[in-house]
Amino acid sequence: MKILPIKTKSKNYNIYIGHNIISKFNKIIKRENINSQKFLIVADKNVPKVFVKMVKSKISSGKRILYSFNASEKNKNVNTVNSIVKILLKNNFTRNDVIICIGGGIAGDVSGFAASIFKRGLKFINIPSTLLSQVDSSIGGKTGVNNKFGKNLIGSFYQPDFVISDIKLLNSLSKREVMCGYAEIFKHSLIKNKKLFLFLDKNLKDILNLKKLYIQKAILESCKIKKQIVEQDEKEKSLRKTLNLGHTFGHAYEATLNYSKKLNHGEAVLYGILSSIKLSKKQKEINKKEYGLIISHLKKLNFDNLKKFFNKRHLNRILSFMSSDKKNISNKINLITLKKIGSVNINNQLNTNEVRKFIKSELLN
Ligand SMILES: NC(=O)c1ccc[n+]([C@@H]2O[C@H](COP(=O)([O-])OP(=O)(O)OC[C@H]3O[C@@H](n4cnc5c(N)ncnc54)[C@H](O)[C@@H]3O)[C@@H](O)[C@H]2O)c1
Repeated sequence: MKILPIKTKSKNYNIYIGHNIISKFNKIIKRENINSQKFLIVADKNVPKVFVKMVKSKISSGKRILYSFNASEKNKNVNTVNSIVKILLKNNFTRNDVIICIGGGIAGDVSGFAASIFKRGLKFINIPSTLLSQVDSSIGGKTGVNNKFGKNLIGSFYQPDFVISDIKLLNSLSKREVMCGYAEIFKHSLIKNKKLFLFLDKNLKDILNLKKLYIQKAILESCKIKKQIVEQDEKEKSLRKTLNLGHTFGHAYEATLNYSKKLNHGEAVLYGILSSIKLSKKQKEINKKEYGLIISHLKKLNFDNLKKFFNKRHLNRILSFMSSDKKNISNKINLITLKKIGSVNINNQLNTNEVRKFIKSELLN
């Protein structure tokens, strides 16, 4: 088991990473000095019951309540938060009591948000159960819910008390969900660590097949990168923006297809990364050799051609979503590009026509 300490201005906490480590939940709770009387376990219904039962059984004293819910973007809303808060109120939870979340990014974002607002914050333990949540959403303290105006528009920054990333939980994920998390690992390597990129490129099959040593190393190294970034810029003032590589394009792609099952978030991000890399080449920021390495990796993943999903008729919709991206700070579109593998440029401000021309000629031609 590896322990990765995260140090932010608001809180320091540990991420425990390993195989079958929730079987040691009782020991970890003790090590973390959690002496609460009441525990609300918020579980995603798709997490195999055996793991939820295990967590419950490892809490030796105090009141244990289970709240299972159907974790979908539709249910990632204030009503679900309200249901959680009601249970806490009915059962007289105090700030010293705990919410334990076991689920993917949706369950984590919802229960983290509920934890942050209940009596202005009670303890929060996160057990991320998807690859994406283990390498991305469980680190850095962003919590929140959607509403009819858009995704993640209501939320808070709230760091957990600790995180347990158990790779055994990943075995029940579909291949597409694994790819979704892999997209973020790949993104992290491009932003900050060429050595990790080369490791991913060499061991891609074993990683995607969740072979223990390979997936554990990929998760740990990926978490280290997100750790470095959020420790320096918890509230996304500047450096944390680097994590948006591929995301402005990616969000527009998934929105253009109405968030349909045809293209999930991670898949859209992979196409977003492809787009950003092509833009980096067009702007003569990245050299030919590194460009070739990245494109060949995307080819191995089967994410090297946007035309499988989009054509020129989609352009207006894509551009309209890119223009309204909440990360833009002027009426220009803010895009992250790559200077080389391991280093990004966060200061690209392109106007809509420039982006239109680029997508038309370089991505959809
Ligand atoms: N807070 C952050 O910093 C941050 C960062 C990235 C993404 N997010 C958010 O995270 C969400 C996406 O997270 P996600 O990709 O984990 O999606 P998710 O939570 O929707 O989980 C994906 C699917 O896998 C199922 N699932 C979860 N664990 C499982 C398991 N062990 N076995 C089988 N099925 C399982 C879920 O029920 C769901 O159907 C989005 O809402 C996004 O906005 C937040």
